[in-house]
Amino acid sequence: MIEVFLLIAWVVIFTVIVTATYKLNHSIKALNAKGDYEKAETIQTSQNWFYALIVVGSVCGIGILYLFLKGSIYESHFFEWLNLTVRLIHITFGIAWIGASFYFVFLENALNRTENVRDELAGNLWAVHGGGFYYVEKYKLAPKEIPKHLHWFKYEAYFTWLSGFCLLSIVYYFNASSYLIDPEVLDILPSTAITISISSLIIGWVLYDQICKRLNKNKTIFTIAITALVFLFAWFYAQVFSGRAAYIHFGAFLGTLMAANVFFTIIPGQKRMVAAAKKGLLPNPEDGKAAGLRSYTNNYFTLPVLFVMISNHFPSTFGNTYQWLVLIGITLGTAGVKHYLNLREKGELSVWVMPIAVVILFGMAFMTAPTPPKYENCQENVSFTEIQAIINNRCAVCHSANPTDDVWKVAPNGIKYDTPEQIYNLKDKIFQRAVVSKNMPFNNNQTGMTQEERDMINCWMNQGAPK
Ligand code: HEC
Repeated sequence: MIEVFLLIAWVVIFTVIVTATYKLNHSIKALNAKGDYEKAETIQTSQNWFYALIVVGSVCGIGILYLFLKGSIYESHFFEWLNLTVRLIHITFGIAWIGASFYFVFLENALNRTENVRDELAGNLWAVHGGGFYYVEKYKLAPKEIPKHLHWFKYEAYFTWLSGFCLLSIVYYFNASSYLIDPEVLDILPSTAITISISSLIIGWVLYDQICKRLNKNKTIFTIAITALVFLFAWFYAQVFSGRAAYIHFGAFLGTLMAANVFFTIIPGQKRMVAAAKKGLLPNPEDGKAAGLRSYTNNYFTLPVLFVMISNHFPSTFGNTYQWLVLIGITLGTAGVKHYLNLREKGELSVWVMPIAVVILFGMAFMTAPTPPKYENCQENVSFTEIQAIINNRCAVCHSANPTDDVWKVAPNGIKYDTPEQIYNLKDKIFQRAVVSKNMPFNNNQTGMTQEERDMINCWMNQGAPK
């Protein structure tokens, strides 16, 4: 009953908001046509609030829809599409954000600072892209007059973080017992796990912020402190969450630092710079320095965060016994690659950075490699029939054209083990998930696969997987 009432209220309120936004759009157009730009701009500002209301309204709408579908056969389908939609939004904003960030780092590194540069400029750059020629100038401080239309890059960061947090909630908070918690790591209640998750992001930011504020005098000490903090979190998450959730949380932690840098330091600093320039004052150099420091760490966080975002597809990494060490290694390696790219864009040649980064990454591939079975534990000839029986018992509940599981009504990721051919053709993936990373059977070994069964598969694969 309550959901019907909510639905009616929502339809009425949402229609009002959308109509009002539409009307505002019209008046802005009309005012611009009349040449009344000032008034048009005032309305434009208030219109942003209406857009925010539309977003909030849409979220409420989705919540109300959930009330209708809760407990029905459509509930998991609802979450699948919610996941899909939010993920798409998240990667779209993420690409826009990281893309802009890469572009500006490149611009900064590649600026021509010597030839034909006017006194007030730090440098300039000619570029050709998409069939057009572009010419960009960077000012040493600020132009004499701040232009009316100044583009700010900030919403990409905010929306990436917001959509990322929604995704974290949809995938990990709503299914905490299957995805977030691994009783073999730490047996905690979903509510405890979610509390740890949220507070870790806040505490992480506070610690990072303090390091930036207190240890910024010496770049070596600063870099060591930040690195130690980042590694501490990589280790910590592995002590409380499932391997997969630990990785995503590490990404969420770095992403939170990056977005919070934009929100709390970089943009406010830029606002003060613009305000000073408008009054004809010199901007406070501390603002520029603080922003520079934050951008410096953000730059090195980008590749590790991107790795974490795809890490879900690579169970040999998060499924390793020392998954936190693998994560630290990959973070170091990818940050090293970024360091090399930075140097290259500046035209500095380095001999060692890239090879060291590659060696570290190779080391991680080596570390996550499968271990051969102990031969004394293998029976002479493991037959395919035995393997088939194990898979039928432990996997086919979910991985079938007609799953009998309560939750999984469609074969997860399209993987089906109904026929001997299907099992045989997918043996490498079976080996990867059931032996190397051991993160199948899903849901904390829901079907109770034994270590002996995993060893059997290992032995069979080592005997050349006879059919
Ligand atoms: C309780 C249901 C369930 C059981 C039982 C189960 N799985 Fe899965 N499986 C899933 C889900 C859900 C996913 C998708 C999520 C993921 O990739 O972690 C998945 C994904 C996979 C994938 C990844 C496919 C890809 O796209 O890379 C493989 C391989 C796999 N399972 C193998 C197995 C094997 C082997 C077993 C038995 C030892 C097994 N599963 C038992 C639910 C199950």
